[in-house]
Amino acid sequence: MTTGARTTKDGGQVVRAAVLRQVGSPFEVEEITLEPVGPRYVRVQMAASGVCHSDLSVQNGTIPFMFPTVLGHEGSGVVAEIGSAVSRVAVGDHVVLTWMPPCRRCFWCLAGQPMLCNVGMGESIGGPYASVGGDKLIRGLGTATFAEQTLVPEAQVVPVDRAAPLELAALVGCALSTGIGAVWHTAGVEPGSTVAVIGCGGVGLSVIQGARLAGASTIVAVDHMGAKLKAAQSMGATDVIDSSSTDAVAGIQALTGGLGVDYAFEVVGRAPTIRLAFEAARRGGTAVLVGAGSPSEEVTFSAFELFVGAKTLVGCVYGSTDPDRDFPSMVDLVTKGTIDAEGMVSRRIGLDDINDAFRAMEAGEVVRSVIVFDNAGGDS
Ligand code: APR
Ligand code: ZN
Repeated sequence: MTTGARTTKDGGQVVRAAVLRQVGSPFEVEEITLEPVGPRYVRVQMAASGVCHSDLSVQNGTIPFMFPTVLGHEGSGVVAEIGSAVSRVAVGDHVVLTWMPPCRRCFWCLAGQPMLCNVGMGESIGGPYASVGGDKLIRGLGTATFAEQTLVPEAQVVPVDRAAPLELAALVGCALSTGIGAVWHTAGVEPGSTVAVIGCGGVGLSVIQGARLAGASTIVAVDHMGAKLKAAQSMGATDVIDSSSTDAVAGIQALTGGLGVDYAFEVVGRAPTIRLAFEAARRGGTAVLVGAGSPSEEVTFSAFELFVGAKTLVGCVYGSTDPDRDFPSMVDLVTKGTIDAEGMVSRRIGLDDINDAFRAMEAGEVVRSVIVFDNAGGDS
């Protein structure tokens, strides 16, 4: 299919993108100009982009960011152009984008924690990207997938099998790797474990899938919107609790012989649900904080309960994912249907529907909206 993109005299590309000018503004879909592709950069024709709660958190100011920007950080596409020094990919390769590109040289990368790399993302957000009406744009969360095309450092694209369905592979860029990685890498859930998942959006359903595949014996899904619990059951939840009408901690204890769960995953990013996860974990158990919270929201614990509970409270960035290690195998599991990505896609939409997708996410009407671009070629 054809694309509306066109090339400027100096080699930049004019493409349509959803521009966010400030906190609280709607997205404006308009033409932006991508800078010419530098030596270590890659231009990607987007195939699909999921709409994640972290984008909403930037739009509503929960996560601080810079403006004007193009958001979107859960995307897949086809490489359209590479810089002179790029060696990771070739034109035509199918890729999933990562918002956390490991630099492979900082303290954290060398310590085996590439998801905490403090160099790659900074280089990406600050590096050459695009402009709109003469104003410089910031590459949102380093990826800017709410656009027909994006321009990123080569470390941000991970090549995947060309037979993989790109619309579904996009979810590996954030929800699936964050949620499944939280279970497999951050927590290391053992077969037979008991698990609770608080918040059953795209990331929470991925946690449920990760727990199912890890062989958890009990997976309790908790959400305050009953509609989310149906999807949770289809992803592998063995029990569900609607926390708008039921005391979730008491419910989880009742399902675990009064103990609480071995692992409680918080997948909302708010103080009350972090407390809930802490209380739902058994003594000596683990609460994993997957949700991205605000710098201004505080959670309190008594000194006594921290001591006597002997629980592990662990922060979880990007499911402790190493994109180069994890994306190709996770995409393979999506292709085989072992990971149910299709069941997480509530709506396939166009870029122009983006504001309605954010409204629907806030209203809890959808698990995941996925923007599908009709210009990537390839498949699906
Ligand atoms: N109690 C129970 N469930 C809640 C509560 C609450 N107080 N508040 C929100 N939820 C549920 C919502 O009903 C929804 O089903 O949490 C879910 C959040 O889902 P999404 O909005 O789809 O968010 P998602 O994209 O899954 O991201 C979840 O992970 O990556 C981070 O920034 C992201 O913090 C966000 C979290
Ligand atoms: Zn995300």
